[in-house]
Amino acid sequence: MKILAGNSNLPLARAIADYLDLPLTKADVRRFADDEVFVEIHENVRGEDVFVIQSTSAPANDNLMELLICIDALRRSSAKRITAVVPYFGYARQDRKPGPRTPISAKLVANLITEAGADRVLAVDLHAGQIQGFFDIPTDNLYGAPVMAADILGRTGGDNLMVVSPDVGGVVRARALSKRINDAPLSIVDKRRDKPGSSEVMNIIGDVKGWDCILIDDIIDSGGTLCNAAGALMDAGAKSVTAYLTHGVLSGTAVERVTASALTELVITDSIQPTAAALASPKIRILPIAPLIGEAIQRIAEESSVSSLWD
Ligand code: R5P
Repeated sequence: MKILAGNSNLPLARAIADYLDLPLTKADVRRFADDEVFVEIHENVRGEDVFVIQSTSAPANDNLMELLICIDALRRSSAKRITAVVPYFGYARQDRKPGPRTPISAKLVANLITEAGADRVLAVDLHAGQIQGFFDIPTDNLYGAPVMAADILGRTGGDNLMVVSPDVGGVVRARALSKRINDAPLSIVDKRRDKPGSSEVMNIIGDVKGWDCILIDDIIDSGGTLCNAAGALMDAGAKSVTAYLTHGVLSGTAVERVTASALTELVITDSIQPTAAALASPKIRILPIAPLIGEAIQRIAEESSVSSLWD
């Protein structure tokens, strides 16, 4: 087995390699003067089972091209099997046509990864489960919920918790977390979004008064969804609001917004490399995801069960 890293999240790739007790494959993933991506692998990979680790986070297009070109280099070097390990799968929110004459970019990205030569995909908390079906190659979608549940139970003991979905679309994810934390009750925030990057809380479905609320979502981008939800929950009498998110996209002024929000704490995984601002925020804590991904890679390599990871 070999682990090849793109540049999007080298600390995560190193942590995964450490978990597996393997060195990162020696390679250069660099730019020409005109910014074209160039990949050169400095080790023999002929006949190897290779895992390429690359989140397609910002700059999404550059990181996607790095992933595609790494896969192409491996294919042309006769790797036996290539797995695209994409801890954060960008473009995932474009998973359907929101209106006439619009693309389904998540499907296009899936096609690109497949066409480049990937044999399998390993992702974490895909924005929508059906994105798995956009690939016609085996695709494992790991869930962050077990890691989050262990952290929540370890810190709170599981008392007085209510799980809250910040929108109607996140109810399945919220219910899955609730099952893992002693069947905590559920509430839902009824959110409306008239344009990307701006959302408004309309109602809270459920009585949150006196509860320690755990908001769960897959992505925090501008922070609007989460910070508005936290404010509305506190206004409705919640005792505290803590948020668990898999992918800390945190664009623009999101970190400042979170720091100034009603949240007690925002916990994100390092599926996307945290910025210096995120690391410096007193309200943001990082939950390492490398053990989960590393274990899944080990199981894929040994051809043992991946789903039993969250049994
Ligand atoms: C939406 O369906 C997602 O699950 C997130 O709630 C959304 O992408 C978060 O975006 P923002 O932080 O910009 O409100």
